[in-house]
Formats: sequence, structure tokens, C-alpha cells
Amino acid sequence: MAQLWGGRFTKETNALVKEFNDSISFDKRLWKEDIEGSIAHATMLGRQGILTKEASENIIEGLLSIRADIESGKLPITNEYEDIHSFVEANLIDRIGDDGKKLHTGRSRNDQVALDMRLFTRKAVNEVREDLLQLEKVILKIMDTHRETFMPGFTHLQKAQPVTLAHHFGAYFEMFRRDVTRLEDTGKRLNECPLGAGALAGTTYPLDRGFVAESLDFDLPTRNSMDSVSDRDYAIEFLGDLSLIMVHLSRLSEEIILWNSNEYRFVEIDDGYSTGSSIMPQKKNPDVAELIRGKTGRVFGDQTSLLTTMKAIPLAYDKDMQEDKEPVFDAFDTVTMCVRLMAGMLETMSFREDIMEKSARHGFTNATDAADYLVVKGVPFRDAHGIIGRMVLYCIEKEKSLDDLSLEEFHSFSKAFDKDIYDAISLKTCVDKRLTVGAPGQAAMDEEIKASSKWLEEETREGEEE
Ligand code: ARG
Repeated sequence: MAQLWGGRFTKETNALVKEFNDSISFDKRLWKEDIEGSIAHATMLGRQGILTKEASENIIEGLLSIRADIESGKLPITNEYEDIHSFVEANLIDRIGDDGKKLHTGRSRNDQVALDMRLFTRKAVNEVREDLLQLEKVILKIMDTHRETFMPGFTHLQKAQPVTLAHHFGAYFEMFRRDVTRLEDTGKRLNECPLGAGALAGTTYPLDRGFVAESLDFDLPTRNSMDSVSDRDYAIEFLGDLSLIMVHLSRLSEEIILWNSNEYRFVEIDDGYSTGSSIMPQKKNPDVAELIRGKTGRVFGDQTSLLTTMKAIPLAYDKDMQEDKEPVFDAFDTVTMCVRLMAGMLETMSFREDIMEKSARHGFTNATDAADYLVVKGVPFRDAHGIIGRMVLYCIEKEKSLDDLSLEEFHSFSKAFDKDIYDAISLKTCVDKRLTVGAPGQAAMDEEIKASSKWLEEETREGEEE
């Protein structure tokens, strides 16, 4: 028996229709969730006296043996069944006979699949969260090591003001921190159990939905049965979380690609995370970063796909909703791979501190500070801005940086300069004077790193306690 229905049909399903309609080729991935949900359902049916204790126990034993056999590879999930729900139920009936036919009492595949997808998404949310925490650990280590690695901060991709590598990576730490908490929010909202909603209107059996919810670790049963079987908000939300993670990974990838280029040479990607060219022997390409950037489009596509699928489905369950699975699986797999690869790439990447510092020195990133110096000496800011602007022009012609100029040269632009100018525009001073909360100055950065490690520790501990 490869399908669960057929009583009211007098003809076989057209072969192409079967191929079109079946979902087992991709929903076989839900086998664990499906069995877990069925065990909770069968246990509840026994407790409620809807099935005899004996029937309920037989079913549970049968399901456990199916689970063990799939796990060991003894029972392959083959594609002749319509979906994973049919596969498990048909196998159960093969194994235990008539009691197996009672499992589906008070249940529909509509609430069953809604449950399976929530169980899957809940697990996926946690896995991505954990991978992100690993990535955060790597980022924090970079921040900790590079508190005094000076580099140019950019706006419009033009050198702007000096920052530190710690500060630059701190920005990514924040992005991924928001991603972690966003996943946690999604996890909280999805944690309601739809089983017991039946096809759409509940059932006439005295089901104990509270018991099922609790035994599957949900906070509550869902509140409305029609919504229970037709809601895929949590999947779309998860895809949204994943899309934003990809935005962040892609921006970081873009910077790594630039920084790894011959022009920047700020970083060197480890050989293990680079690839070569079949024709140009000198090449070492940042393919991993490029692919992460490239796969971002694919994850956005997954979210757009499900949003579009859901937007005009009348209540309650319609078959369109079978299209929820592939985008969720695809985006989850893609993001998991990308987060792990990014962590590995960063962990093994070397940073060229000398080149970064030189780039900051030669990019007039201290020009604002030089103007501020004149202001302190009593020159109005607008005049100071003009003086430094002319000095920058002079330096460009002479191929010098501001701090290469002699005191005489400084004086030729303004008598307000004194020999303390050199210290005032050194990268270290420029950075360390930036002390406001969130700025790159050493003291502010120390605070940021302290708060970040505290958060990471708490999050990691929380995961372990669960
Ligand atoms: N394979 C289906 C899905 O993923 C299971 C639910 C089938 N329900 C139905 N009424 N045909 O959506």
C-alpha cells in the first residue's frame, strides 16, 4: 500500500500526476519529526482511552522499530510512497497489522505536516543559532587580538578616519548578535503545537492537546485549528532571519575579497580556504567568500518563493503549502554551510597589520584630527578645514602623509602649529581620543569587548543548559 486513500476512487492516479503530487523525494527528511509526533499522538490516544493501552503500546513499539531501522539503514525510504507520513504509516501497518491502522485516529496529514515542519524549523533555528555563536567566538578573538591594529575606516569606500581592526570586526559582531536574538524570537513564536487541529476543524475525539504539546516540548497548543493547519509564518520568518544572516555574511565576504586583492593586501586568506586557476599559475582566488556572496541570492529567493506561495491561499490547508519544504531545507543547508565556512576562513586568515597601518597613515585619515588641533589652538573650524585641505593637496603633490611634514612645512600653512602636532595626529592618538560609547578608542573598545564576551558567554551557557 503506497497511498493512504483510494476508497472513493475507481481509477488509478495518472502517472505524471503521481510524480507531480508526491513529496516524499524531499519530505523524507522529516522522518524523525514524523515519528516523534506520532509517538506523542499514540501515547495521548492511549491515555485518553481513545485507543486501548495495548494498541497504543503496539503502535509506539512499531514506530520505535521503524525509527531504529531507518537509522541503521535497514529500512530505506523509497519514493513509491506519496509522502513521509504515508511511508511511516504504511510501514507501521506492515509491521503490526490492524493496530497500525488506528494511529491516524483524530489526526489529519494537515496537522501532522504542520507539526513536522514546526519541529524541523525549531531544530534548524537552534542549529543556526549555535553555528552563529561559534562564528561570534572567532570574531571576538580577532577583536581581542587586534585592539591596536590601526586601519582606515571608510565611507564611500574612501579612507575616512582611522579605526582599529577590532572596531571594524565589532560591527560584524553586532550584526550577528542581532541575528542570534532574531532567531531566538522566531523560536519563541513558533513554539506552539498544531497537532489536534485535525484537517481544519479539530476533531470529535476527546484529544488532550495540552499533553501532546507538553510532551513535544511546546509551550502551548495552537489556539485556532484553521490557523494551525494553514500557518507557515514561522517558516517565512525563519527564511527572513536566514536572509539577513546572508546579508551580513555577504557584506563581510565582499570586504574580505577586497582586502585580499592585490591592491589592498590587508589580509591573506589561508591556502585551505582559497582555490587556484586552471590557466593562471599565480592566482589564489577567494572563491569561498565569492560563493557565500553568491549564495545570498539563492536564500533571498527561498524566502520570496514561500512568501509568494502563501500570499493567496484561502483557508485552511491547500496543497500549495507542500511547497514550503524545499525553500526551508535549501536555505537552512545553505546558511549552515556559509556560517561554518566563514568561521573557518576567518579563523585561518592572516591580517597584514603593517599594510593596514600604512594605508591609514597615507590616506589622510587624520585630517579631521589635524583640523581639530587647530581649533584647540584658537583657529575657527571653517578656517582650520581650509588650511588642512590645502595641506592635503600639498602632500598629494609631494607624495607625503601629513605626519611626514617638517615643522617648517606646517608653519608655512599656519603659525598655530607647534611640535605637539605630531603626537596629536598620530594614529594612536586619533583613535584613542575617540572615547564615546561605541567608538574605537582603546577605553571604549575595551568596554565593547567586555560586554560582547559577557553576552557570548551567557548565550553559550544558555544553549548548554537546554
Ligand atoms: N505532503 C503534504 C504536504 O506536505 C502532506 C499533507 C497532505 N494533506 C492533504 N490534505 N493532501 O503538505
